[in-house]
Amino acid sequence: MVKPCLQVELAGVKLENPLMNASGILGLTSYSLARLAEAGLGALVTKSIGLKPRLGNPNPTVVEVPGGLVNSMGLPNPGLEAFKSELEESLPKIGKPLFVSVFGFSPEEYGEAVKRLDRLPVAGFELNVSCPHMGGVGEIGGSPEALREAVRGARASTGKPLLVKLSPNLTSFAEAARVAEEAGADGIVATNTVRSMVIDLEAERPLLAGVYGGLSGLPLKPVALRCVYEAYEAVKIPIVGCGGIFTWRDAAEYFMAGAVAIQVGTAIAYRGLEVFRDILSGLSAYLEAKGLDDLGGLVGAAHKR
Ligand code: SIN
Repeated sequence: MVKPCLQVELAGVKLENPLMNASGILGLTSYSLARLAEAGLGALVTKSIGLKPRLGNPNPTVVEVPGGLVNSMGLPNPGLEAFKSELEESLPKIGKPLFVSVFGFSPEEYGEAVKRLDRLPVAGFELNVSCPHMGGVGEIGGSPEALREAVRGARASTGKPLLVKLSPNLTSFAEAARVAEEAGADGIVATNTVRSMVIDLEAERPLLAGVYGGLSGLPLKPVALRCVYEAYEAVKIPIVGCGGIFTWRDAAEYFMAGAVAIQVGTAIAYRGLEVFRDILSGLSAYLEAKGLDDLGGLVGAAHKR
């Protein structure tokens, strides 16, 4: 039997395989983007960029919890203009579709950021409306009106694919996915991290300097998987699964829940960049064992009850 084909199409962008990095761990410098590009991914996502430079929160910003991390980075980034220069230098060397993640403190800032980046030869954009510990950003994805305005503004600024990364902390993930679709999104990323915190027993206070953080890794997986499943039943646009994907088994569950592509973040910190090739070879063997030619046979399989 010929090897199964792992190519997928995401919002009109052809990916040689369904693996992407989750915005957050790497992806702010030419060096880290080049390292990701060599790791066998189908597409890359940058860390989230805002209009102005930000130092981020003071330390400690990341703490390990069983199976995962709680981060309170505070969206550190060099600002849009400096990042544009970095991308102009790195894009020719990347050779993979690249999505730029953008955030804003108001709905208008999304349209403005996308407009200023749109002339770069990037594949598309990911709107981060879901950071759970940065006042203002998560609230945009949490309000249907603000979400609609942010997506519409970005839509008016580009003809390129727009993915919208939503929060698992919403009362109705499906409803937010519908709002994003109606406002012009081409895909949903499910999900960002869960709002959380850790207490320092000795100091008798919150361990993270930012107090609240986002929980990622294995504890996030069942939550994010549920969001993918709900979104699959609510919208027609493609869904990218993200949350606690460490192995090909995790990946296969996300495809069955309805994802067409997946993003890996915290597992890079635990398993290194080899995690991407491990997941790919496991998926390929799994498809072969099931007699499937491609991933299409898995996507949404868990909905056929
Ligand atoms: C951060 O930089 O604080 C993390 C980004 C996010 O969770 O959206």
